[in-house]
Amino acid sequence: MESSLDKYLREHSTLPSPALEWIQKQTHIRTNFPRMLSGPVQGELLKMLVSLTGAKRILEIGSFTGYSTVCLALGGGEGCIVDALEINDELEELMREGWDKAGVSGRIRLHLGDACETLGRLAGEPGREYDFVFMDANKREYCKYYELLMPLLRPGGLIVADDVLWDGKVYAESVPSDAQTQGLLEFNRSVAEDPGVETVMLPLRDGLSLIRKL
Ligand SMILES: C[S@@+](CC[C@H](N)C(=O)[O-])C[C@H]1O[C@@H](n2cnc3c(N)ncnc32)[C@H](O)[C@@H]1O
Repeated sequence: MESSLDKYLREHSTLPSPALEWIQKQTHIRTNFPRMLSGPVQGELLKMLVSLTGAKRILEIGSFTGYSTVCLALGGGEGCIVDALEINDELEELMREGWDKAGVSGRIRLHLGDACETLGRLAGEPGREYDFVFMDANKREYCKYYELLMPLLRPGGLIVADDVLWDGKVYAESVPSDAQTQGLLEFNRSVAEDPGVETVMLPLRDGLSLIRKL
């Protein structure tokens, strides 16, 4: 159920393209967890951040039905490449349909499999470097993703990490002991203490951290 604040934010942000609306609708019809999708406000923010930073080499960790992938590819424009990492191969058909509708299929390389394994493989390729990373996969493994991707991010490059507030669990008086909450706590702490980055945490949706490599 959309809150009044979310509704107001959506109504006063740029409308998503028909292809993005199609992906959102199909995600509700064809998947069990449509809430995982970024949605129009966060999607527009991702698109704008990619466009403002002029990023062309983009990495996405956790693509789900490809909504945020389209936003990244639209922000990157002609000539950008989005490496999209997703473990659930059952989503491929829906992802590719949406990317075709949005006209961005040529800008996206899908890597199906576990993100840590894919990151390890990408890191082994000479000269691989990213300008922009959107981190949105397994919350238990955010620290591992951070460790693996930092050497691949160019100085000045930006990471956007999603869900860092985790429904407020990370700052609750009594913090739950489940692995996802603990994974996010550990990630938030290590980013805040990392002298190699500057970072700001925003309360949009479930919390977004913007992390710039110095
Ligand atoms: C929150 S959803 C991503 C939503 C998408 N970025 C968007 O904004 O529309 C998280 C995705 O990460 C994927 N995922 C979870 N664990 C993963 C792993 N170990 N490697 C790659 N993808 C993973 C899930 O299958 C799921 O599709």
